[in-house]
Amino acid sequence: MRVAAIVPAAGRGERLGPGTPKALRLLGGVPLLVHAVRALSSARLVDLVVVAGPPEGEAEVRALLDAHDVAAEVRVVAGGETRQESVRRALDVLPADVAGVLVHDAARPLAPSDLADDVAQALIAGVTAVIPVMPVTDTIKRVDVSGHVLQTLPRAELVAVQTPQGFARSVLAEAHDAAALDGFEGTDDASLVERLGVPVQTVAGYDDAFKVTRPGDLAHAETVLRRRLERRDR
Ligand code: CTP
Ligand code: MG
Repeated sequence: MRVAAIVPAAGRGERLGPGTPKALRLLGGVPLLVHAVRALSSARLVDLVVVAGPPEGEAEVRALLDAHDVAAEVRVVAGGETRQESVRRALDVLPADVAGVLVHDAARPLAPSDLADDVAQALIAGVTAVIPVMPVTDTIKRVDVSGHVLQTLPRAELVAVQTPQGFARSVLAEAHDAAALDGFEGTDDASLVERLGVPVQTVAGYDDAFKVTRPGDLAHAETVLRRRLERRDR
C-alpha cells in the first residue's frame, strides 16, 4: 500500500503572535514545517509528502524545502482559508496509486517518525481510520457562553488527539466531500470521517507530538529539541 502524508501548513499562527506564518517560524534555526516534513519523510512507510503552504508562499516553501535535506519526494500546493480546505487541496493532487493518507500538522514539528510509522502500519494492516491519543490530565467541563458550568465530563473517557491521523484515501476524500457539501468545519480530519459512521481506531500518542500554538509551546519545543540533540551527541 502506497502511503502519502499531507501537511497542512497554511495557517497564520495568530495565537503564537505577530510575525511570519507559524509553519515558517524557526525552531533551533529550522522552520517548523521543515522539522515536520523531515520526520514524515524519514518514516519507513511514508514515500510522498504533500505540503499545503501559505497561499502566495508556495515558491518560498519550495525553496525552503530544497535548502534543507529531506529524504522523501515533497510536493507543495497552496493552502486554503481553513485547515480543512488546505487538507482538501492537498488531497486533490495525490497520485492515483496512493491508497493510504496521513494528515499531519506542520505545527507539530517534533512528532517522531515512529509515530508516523505506527499510524501507517495500522493502515497497512487494514484499519480505515486511526488517530494518536493521549490521556487528559486536566478536568474538562462544558460551559455555556456566559461561562457557567453545564457539565463535568468523566475524565477517564476523554483523550487529547494528536496528528498524524491516518485514513484510507477513499474514505478521507469522501469525508471531505461530505463536509464541504454540508458546510461542516471540523478541527481535525477524524471528525469528518466520524460523520460518515466509519469507526476510528486509536493508537498511543507521543509526548513530543504536542502542538505549537502559543509562545510558551515554542519555548517548550526549543527545550525538547535541545535535549534531543544533547542525547544524540553523547
Ligand atoms: N492550517 C492550514 N490552513 C489554514 C489554517 C491552518 O493549513 N487555513 C494548518 C496550520 O498551518 C497548522 C495546522 O493547520 O499546521 C493546525 O492549525 P493551528 O495550530 O490552528 O495553526 P494556525 O491556524 O496557523 O494558528 P492560529 O489558529 O493560532 O492562527
Ligand atoms: Mg488555526
